[in-house]
Amino acid sequence: MRVTAVYPGTFDPITNGHLDIIRRGVRLFDEVLVAVLRNPDKEPLFPVEERVEILRGAVAALPHVRVESFDGLLVDYVRSRQAQVIVRGLRALSDFEYEYQMALMNQRLGHDLETVFMMPSEAYSYVSSRLVKEVARLGGDITGLVPPEVVARLKRRFAAAGGRT
Ligand code: PNS
Repeated sequence: MRVTAVYPGTFDPITNGHLDIIRRGVRLFDEVLVAVLRNPDKEPLFPVEERVEILRGAVAALPHVRVESFDGLLVDYVRSRQAQVIVRGLRALSDFEYEYQMALMNQRLGHDLETVFMMPSEAYSYVSSRLVKEVARLGGDITGLVPPEVVARLKRRFAAAGGRT
């Protein structure tokens, strides 16, 4: 049986921790479909089209990975793609409660789907999109935490905003 895994998220922007999870997913599943949420409650820094474009560039060299955007219920999207698995990264205990709630809600909504949690490399255990944006906005060095393309785009974005946003 071919197993397709959906890796959903806001990815605002993608970090090297996300990429690490995608690489691990490629080793386990026949296909990894990275799904970028179109309408998150949080107001994203990068519009969804740009987040998808950045992701496509970052995973270009990886086999069996596709990137799409989605809106609506995650379980509906997963089913529409004939996928069976939802992948989520778990960095620390602090992630657990939110992830646990989501996994149980998705289990209730989609009995046929499984959530699989994967641990990123320890080197990325403290890296989040939120912190990366904050450090970049304040002029700190984020090299090695996100793909080079993201470093460049964050620099441009915050230079244009003159440190605001
Ligand atoms: O990267 P994030 O912001 O933690 O990802 C959250 C995401 C996109 C996985 C979650 O918000 C989601 O699945 N949204 C889609 C709407 C939905 O299905 N909500 C119920 C899930 S419990």
